[in-house]
Amino acid sequence: MAAARESVAETTARLSAARGDDPAELIEILHDIQQEIGMVPEEAQRVLAARLNLTRAEVHGVTSFYHDFRAQPAGRVVVKMCAAEACQSVGGAALISAICRSVGAALGETSPSGVTLEPIYCLGACACAPAAEVNGKLHARLTVEKLEAAIGAAAT
Ligand code: FES
Repeated sequence: MAAARESVAETTARLSAARGDDPAELIEILHDIQQEIGMVPEEAQRVLAARLNLTRAEVHGVTSFYHDFRAQPAGRVVVKMCAAEACQSVGGAALISAICRSVGAALGETSPSGVTLEPIYCLGACACAPAAEVNGKLHARLTVEKLEAAIGAAAT
């Protein structure tokens, strides 16, 4: 666990060193950073690039490719909405649109009330589509009303 006064650069350096400053461990180090800081800020990417002897573009390429890495802190409720085919075939797109309107944020954004909406591409619950995850808990066979209720419960 990081000391409370540790800077982003110090945290990044410590976590990178713990994995031997090995470029092959880039994704694992990024996960470690996000777990401790709650996001992967620009400063962390800069420090990591220098320590791993990678370009900033290489590090940024990885953080922007994988949806799990956030450049901004998440809200207190994180909703991962499945945007893959099985869910889309049973109304997933309409569900996503309705929840975006209801929450007041687009996918990839956090609402003023602290709900972060993120796309995910299959939660392994295709037989029970459409599905979403709310703060790590799977919800399936969703309707707009069911998902709104799950979000409301997670926010309290
Ligand atoms: S496609 Fe949505 S859970 Fe698999």
